[in-house]
Amino acid sequence: MQYTTLGRTGLRVSVAGLGTGGFSRMGLKSGKTEEESARLILDAVDLGINFIDTAPPYGTEGVVGKALKSIPRDKVVVATKSTVRRDGEWWTPERVVASLDNSLRLMGTDYVDVFNLHAVEAQMYDYALNTLAPALVEQQRKGKIRHIGLTENPIVDFTNAALKRALHDPVWEVYMVGFHMMHQGARANVFPVTRQKGIGTLIMFAVRSIFADPPRVAREMKELAAKGHVEKWLGETDDPLGFLVHAGGAANMIDAAYRFVRHEPGVDVVLFGTGDAAHLRTNVASLLKPPLPESDRTKLAALFGHLEGIGLDGHQGRSR
Ligand SMILES: NC(=O)c1ccc[n+]([C@@H]2O[C@H](COP(=O)([O-])OP(=O)(O)OC[C@H]3O[C@@H](n4cnc5c(N)ncnc54)[C@H](OP(=O)(O)O)[C@@H]3O)[C@@H](O)[C@H]2O)c1
Repeated sequence: MQYTTLGRTGLRVSVAGLGTGGFSRMGLKSGKTEEESARLILDAVDLGINFIDTAPPYGTEGVVGKALKSIPRDKVVVATKSTVRRDGEWWTPERVVASLDNSLRLMGTDYVDVFNLHAVEAQMYDYALNTLAPALVEQQRKGKIRHIGLTENPIVDFTNAALKRALHDPVWEVYMVGFHMMHQGARANVFPVTRQKGIGTLIMFAVRSIFADPPRVAREMKELAAKGHVEKWLGETDDPLGFLVHAGGAANMIDAAYRFVRHEPGVDVVLFGTGDAAHLRTNVASLLKPPLPESDRTKLAALFGHLEGIGLDGHQGRSR
C-alpha cells in the first residue's frame, strides 16, 4: 500500500480508501451477511487499507463495528457522516449530535476520525456552516470527532458549487469530491484551493455507475456525439475508451478509471465501494500502479475535460 497525508489533518492514510456505501454496501445489497461484509473489511485492512468511510443511511456502521473488534482502533481512520436535510426537513444540531452518538454506538468506538456533513448542496451551505458546524466543533472539543468535513452531492451538483462556497471557511478540513474520467471539473473548481489550504480530499465516483458498464459508456458517447458535445468518432464505436487499453497503458476500463483518479494532483484518497473480494484486490492493484501514460491523460483531458455530470447515476450530464 502507499500512504499519504490527508491535508492539514496530518492523518496518515492509504491512497486506497474503502467506501462502505455506494451500490454495493460491502455486499449487503447482494445478500452477504454482516459477518461476511465485516470479513471483507478485514481483507481490505490486510491489503493495507486504513481508511474506511461509512454513513448512517448505508446501513454499514454495524459492519464497520464488527470489523473494528479485530483491529486496533488507532490503526484505522474511520469516517462517518450526518444528514443535513432530508425530505425537506432540516436536521437540528441536536439531531446531528444524536446521529453522531448513534454512529459511535454502532461502531463501538468513542471517536470518529473524520465526521462529514453528508451530500451538502450549495443552498444548504449557510445552514451547514452557521447552524451545524458550531455543534460539530463542540463535539470535537469533547473528543468525539477528530476532524470535520463536507461531502458534496455530485448527482445534483455538477459544478462542485457547494465545495466552492466552502473553500474559504477553515472549519472544513476534509472534502469528499466527485471526480472521474468524464467528470473532471474538480481539477479547476476544487483541487487548486484544497492543495493551497491543506484540505484533505477523498474521491468518490471513480467508477460508480458508468465505468463498470461498457454499453452505458458507448450509449452516452453516442448521445453526446449526436449533440456535438464530444468528437464524432466517439459516437461511432462500441468501445470509445478502447484507446486507453494497450501495452504500457491500462489493463481495462476499470483499471483506467481508478488510475486516472489516483494520480490527479490534489487527490489524497480514492474511495471505492465493492461487495466482491476479487474486485477489492484488483482495485487496490490498479490504485498502486503508475499513472496512465501522459499521452492518455492528455487525451482524456482534451476529449472529456469540458463535460460535467456524465455517468453520475441516472444523469446524462452536459457539456460546459
Ligand atoms: N455524497 C456522498 O457522501 C457519497 C456519495 C457516493 C459515494 N460515497 C462514498 O464513496 C464510496 C465510493 O463510491 P462508490 O461506491 O460509488 O464507488 P466506485 O468505486 O466509484 O463504484 C463502485 C461500483 O463499481 C463496482 N465495481 C467496483 N470495482 C469493480 C471492479 N473491479 N469490476 C467491476 N465492477 C466494480 C462496484 O460493484 P461490485 O460490488 O460488484 O464491486 C460498485 O457498484 C462509497 O462507498 C461511499 O462510501 C459518498
